[in-house]
Amino acid sequence: MPVTIKSAEEIELMRESCRLLAQVHNELGNAIRPGMSTMDIDILGDSLIRKMGCIPNFKNYNGYPASICTSVNNEVVHGIPSKKRILEEGDIISLDAGLIYKGYHSDAARTHAVGQISPEAQKLIDVTRQSFFEGIKKAKAGNHLHDISNAIDAYVSQFGYGIVRDLVGHGIGRKLHEAPEIPNFAQKRKGIKLCAGMTLAIEPMINMGRADVCWLDDDWTVVTEDDSLSAHYENTILITDGEPEILTL
Ligand code: MF3
Ligand code: CO
Repeated sequence: MPVTIKSAEEIELMRESCRLLAQVHNELGNAIRPGMSTMDIDILGDSLIRKMGCIPNFKNYNGYPASICTSVNNEVVHGIPSKKRILEEGDIISLDAGLIYKGYHSDAARTHAVGQISPEAQKLIDVTRQSFFEGIKKAKAGNHLHDISNAIDAYVSQFGYGIVRDLVGHGIGRKLHEAPEIPNFAQKRKGIKLCAGMTLAIEPMINMGRADVCWLDDDWTVVTEDDSLSAHYENTILITDGEPEILTL
């Protein structure tokens, strides 16, 4: 599938899809408390999305059983919500959510502190978030896709963290995952040229320890091989001839 360039009308629909998702994330972030289960978060997220008249795009995606991905501590992404998984003070939790509005997908992730967390965990969250912003400094028409990847890698590598290589960002639009794939680590090739009207989900996943990950027996939950903490930050953005628009903030 080639990379799609969205028309002005499609961009308006992407903007609205993403604006609604940003609201969902704000509400979910405000709801995080020690003592709640990851299933509580999924129930809340699912109902917020449906109340907006939208569809949770993760639900049943390749058989994914929930609407929100809830990944705690050493879980990198795609943690499956469970009523048995109770959040404790000091945990970190990555929430990944997406929705469909009038046929257009949005996708974003945030990592939150549960109560008071260690300074080391907070730094991992902050660096992961900042790596997204370092990446999108390069996200303009005329630059190449891997300028984004290289900028994320250059920033994160200063801290000695592991950049997950087995999962990448992606184009997004009428489908959740469109071309191109967007790695978060340095690339030898330049990648495609960026054009105004591309909508991309850029999503660094960063481990405090080594980059290696493995999959749990549920075949969804991705965890760090060395059990170190992991953080995730993602927004859907629009490439323009000037600065990129971050649609899910
Ligand atoms: N942001 C995640 C991704 O792009 C969303 C996963 S959706 C799931 O891979 F349904 F697979 F969980
Ligand atoms: Co994504």
